[in-house]
Amino acid sequence: MSSAPVVLGIETSCDETGVGIVVDGELRANVIASSIDEQARFGGVVPEVASRAHVDAIGPTIDAACKRAGIALTDVDAVAVTAGPGLVGSLLVGVAAAKGLASGLGVDLYGINHLAAHVAVDEMEHGELPDPVIALLVSGGHSSLVLLEGDRIQPLGQTLDDAAGEAFDKVARVLGLPFPGGPHIDRAAREGDPSAFDLPRGLAHDPDHRFDFSFSGLKTAVTRLVASLGEPVSDRQVADVAASFQEAVADVLSRKAVEACRTHGIEHLVLGGGVAANSRLRALTGDRAESAGLILRVPRPDLCTDNGAMVAALGARLIRHGVAPTSPGFPATSSMPVTSVAFS
Ligand code: KG4
Ligand code: ZN
Repeated sequence: MSSAPVVLGIETSCDETGVGIVVDGELRANVIASSIDEQARFGGVVPEVASRAHVDAIGPTIDAACKRAGIALTDVDAVAVTAGPGLVGSLLVGVAAAKGLASGLGVDLYGINHLAAHVAVDEMEHGELPDPVIALLVSGGHSSLVLLEGDRIQPLGQTLDDAAGEAFDKVARVLGLPFPGGPHIDRAAREGDPSAFDLPRGLAHDPDHRFDFSFSGLKTAVTRLVASLGEPVSDRQVADVAASFQEAVADVLSRKAVEACRTHGIEHLVLGGGVAANSRLRALTGDRAESAGLILRVPRPDLCTDNGAMVAALGARLIRHGVAPTSPGFPATSSMPVTSVAFS
C-alpha cells in the first residue's frame, strides 16, 4: 500500500447509495444517489425498491466518486463497505460490489459497522477522535450512548422502543409532512414555539434507565394531541407541534449524553447519525456541553446522514490503527451489534 492510502468506502445499508474516497486522511469525494423520491410515495423505505435502486446506482456512483476525487479506480489501495446493520438486500449490493472491486484490484477489504462509521466520519472534519470519548448515535434505526476507549466499545444505554429518527419520521407522518420526516420537522419547527405543548420526556428521571431512551410514549402523545386539534390543522399548529416534539427529543438526548460524560468522567462527546443533523439537538447539546465543561464534536449535517465518506473514514482509521483487513467471506448482517467495529 502507498504511504498515502486511497480508501474507497461504499454505503448501501438503507436507501442511499453512497461512495466516499479518502486520500491520506483527507476526504476527496462523497457522492450519494438516493432512492428517496421513489420511497417517499410509499411513506417509508420499501426494501425491494431500495435494493433495486442500489443495483442501478452502484456502478455510476463509484465512477462519479473517482472522477470527483481525481483518481482512477486502479489508484485505490483499500475498499471499505458497510456490512451491517441495515436492510439485508441493500447491504448485499454494496458488499458484493466491494468484494468484486477488492478482488479485481487485488487490494485489502474492510467489512465495517455502519454505526461506528457514523462516529468515525467526524475525523474528516475535526481530526483524530479523542480517546476516551462518549458517542451519542441517533439514526433512523438506532439510538445509543456508547463509551469508546482504546478498541473497546462499551454500550451505556439505548432506546427501549423506537429510534429517535423513527420517532421523527412517525410524527412527521401524523403532521402530514413528507418522508423522511426529520428534516421537515426541523424546518417546520423554526416557525414554531417549542413551549406551545408540554410533551413527555420518556425515562428522563428513571434511575433504572439512566442512559436509555424511550420515544414511543412521546409519539403516542403527539398523535393524540394532533387528533385533538381537529381538522384542518393549520400551519401554525404544525409548526408548534413540530417545535414542541423536537424540543422533547433534543432535551432528553442532550441531557442524557452530557450526564453520561459526567458520570463516567469523560471530557469529550461526539454526535453521529442522521438525527445529529437536527439543528435544535446540535444547539442544545452544544449549550449543555459548554456549561458542563465538555468538548463537543458534531460532523457537519451532510456527513451525519448516511453517506459513503463515513465508511471510507472508518476504513482509513482502521488502516491507520493497523487493524487487519476482513477476510473476504464475511456476510451482510442486518443486526450487527454496536460493539463490533468491523469483521475480522
Ligand atoms: O443515519 P441515517 O441517515 O440513516 C440510518 O442509519 O437510519 O438517519 C436517518 C434518520 C431519519 O429518521 C431522518 O428522519 C433523520 O435521520 N434525520 C433527521 C434530520 N435529518 C435526518 N432528524 C431530525 N432532524 C434532522 N434535520
Ligand atoms: Zn445511518
